[in-house]
Amino acid sequence: ALVSLRQLLDHAAENDYGLPAFNVNNLEQIHAIMQAADECDSPVIMQGSAGARKYAGEPFLRHLIAAAVEAYPHIPIVMHQDHGASPSVCVNAIRSGFSSVMMDGSLEADAKTPSTYEYNVKVTSEVVGIAHSVGVSVEGELGCLGSLESGMGEAEDGHGAEGKLSHDQLLTDPEEAADFVKKTGVDALAIAIGTSHGAYKFTRKPTGDILAIERIKEIHQRIPNTHLVMHGSSSVPQEWLEIIRQYGGEMKETYGVPVEEIREGIKNGVRKVNIDTDIRLAMTGAIRRHMSQDKSNFDPRKFLKEATAAAKDICKARFESFGCAGQA
Ligand code: G3H
Ligand code: 13P
Ligand code: NA
Ligand code: ZN
Repeated sequence: ALVSLRQLLDHAAENDYGLPAFNVNNLEQIHAIMQAADECDSPVIMQGSAGARKYAGEPFLRHLIAAAVEAYPHIPIVMHQDHGASPSVCVNAIRSGFSSVMMDGSLEADAKTPSTYEYNVKVTSEVVGIAHSVGVSVEGELGCLGSLESGMGEAEDGHGAEGKLSHDQLLTDPEEAADFVKKTGVDALAIAIGTSHGAYKFTRKPTGDILAIERIKEIHQRIPNTHLVMHGSSSVPQEWLEIIRQYGGEMKETYGVPVEEIREGIKNGVRKVNIDTDIRLAMTGAIRRHMSQDKSNFDPRKFLKEATAAAKDICKARFESFGCAGQA
């Protein structure tokens, strides 16, 4: 059944688990997520970005997720709009049936409107007013975590946060978070705690302190009833990077957020964990491998099936390690 983000995350908070929120763009990714969720009995959050809408077209994206709701009636599913750049983007998603939206007030409304704290409060409150009147949940964002298309600068465009700003400047301030939640009434808040979008997060192997766990604890203490969201939470599996390289892909050395650290975050109030890159890597690796190993095949279903299986394994591993397996 289609449920709101608030419903799922309230249950996650009551039962001390977290949920991956997977970005989706096509049939195969949705199949992969649903097959994994079905096998391990997990609730599901699927989210569409602006890029996904551009790729698939909003009606296709929405109907593909709706098809998952129909095909798996026993699994609670959230249809979430990721990184809404303006209230009108969010209102359109609400009108078309999404059960949750993200108002990303860190994205600028237009080239002339700089995104200030006041602007963020204003647009986010506006979306909460509309969304809550029809039972839709809202995720806000506070802090410098940015997104791929925001043009916010190199620190946040998926090419690694290291060395661009000091660690502390990138983190969400707990007092500001409390003020923001009080003024906006958001259900969930994306916080900056050391992650960034894309495959190129860290150039060195993480040594156990990627996430600002102390900061997560402080924020959670200040706003215990607001569910915390971690963007940029792909783990960038080294096995898949190896496979991609082995079959002709060119990817530089890079590391993501270790699953163990995400589990620490979940112990301290993180409930929604955004993952896109890991599925991209697994699908690309599986397709590259198939293309090299079966050079006579020209039926796309064969390599898409392998891509689906690879993505499914990633999803299942995340459902199991975030504690949401068995919670559907
Ligand atoms: O928020 C970032 C997600 O990874 C979506 O990426 O805009 O390329 O679809 P995208
Ligand atoms: P990754 O690039 O780490 O998968 O993050 C995705 C994300 O945060 C989508 O909003
Ligand atoms: Na989101
Ligand atoms: Zn994001």
